[in-house]
Amino acid sequence: MNLNGKVALVTGASRGIGEALAIGLAEHGADIAIYDLESEEKGLLNTKKLVENTGQRCWSYFLDVASKPQITETINKTLSDTDSIDILVNNAGILTPSSLEGLDEKTWDAHFDVNTKGVFLMCQSVLPHMRSKKSGRIINIASIAGRQGSPTQGHYASTKAAVITLTRVFAQEVGEAGITVNAICPGIILTEMGKNNLGSEKEIKHWSNVAALKRLGYPKDIIGPTVFFASDLSDFVTGQSINVCGGIYFH
Ligand SMILES: NC(=O)c1ccc[n+]([C@@H]2O[C@H](COP(=O)([O-])OP(=O)(O)OC[C@H]3O[C@@H](n4cnc5c(N)ncnc54)[C@H](O)[C@@H]3O)[C@@H](O)[C@H]2O)c1
Repeated sequence: MNLNGKVALVTGASRGIGEALAIGLAEHGADIAIYDLESEEKGLLNTKKLVENTGQRCWSYFLDVASKPQITETINKTLSDTDSIDILVNNAGILTPSSLEGLDEKTWDAHFDVNTKGVFLMCQSVLPHMRSKKSGRIINIASIAGRQGSPTQGHYASTKAAVITLTRVFAQEVGEAGITVNAICPGIILTEMGKNNLGSEKEIKHWSNVAALKRLGYPKDIIGPTVFFASDLSDFVTGQSINVCGGIYFH
């Protein structure tokens, strides 16, 4: 799974899964452009250093994926810095647990703005370049929540179900241009988001027990499937969403 000579973009890369994916893609030979909110500068610069430690090049940018003007400006800047965009990993996401009955409109909108509109706008912004090259790989980080949904995650799960659908439709619309679009549905991954969501040691134990592999995930568990979707080995795979959850969910 060789990504030599490719440039991969990873959003939400200041920590957690995004940080692991930036490093993992670099370890497989890609140069990396990373993005996160300005408030996450420290984490973003740390990820840049870790990517550069692999020997690959790394460019970092402040970007709110919910803002179309920022995306347009930042992707133009990226292209002039890197000369190419071969792989896009839409990883940025938010989760504030709440019952649907108790959820306020602002929180609903914020989740859709970041988790769903962010993916849509980022895809739109890189596709003209990928089309001109007649190749490209887009990998969306969805969630097993988007397959089913669970209490306190109705809004989040809805955003991720929409990402799975966007993945299917983008794949059908851009396949003839040699571009594949796939999604990864992580299970419970021990990041800031994963831990916030679980809340207690008791829940961590419970879900570890439910998982076929008897453990929860680490950010590095998402690297293999992402590199597979980014590499030539997945040439004939598009529009698919794969659960990477240690066997918590099976559909
Ligand atoms: N951790 C889990 O259990 C889990 C499970 C399934 C799916 N996911 C998904 O994986 C992705 C990464 O999650 P994580 O667990 O690493 O979470 P995290 O909270 O540790 O990291 C999320 C990153 O996204 C960034 N971000 C948030 N809003 C942004 C915005 N508007 N613009 C740009 N960047 C923004 C954050 O600053 C942060 O760096 C998310 O899409 C999440 O929904 C996580």
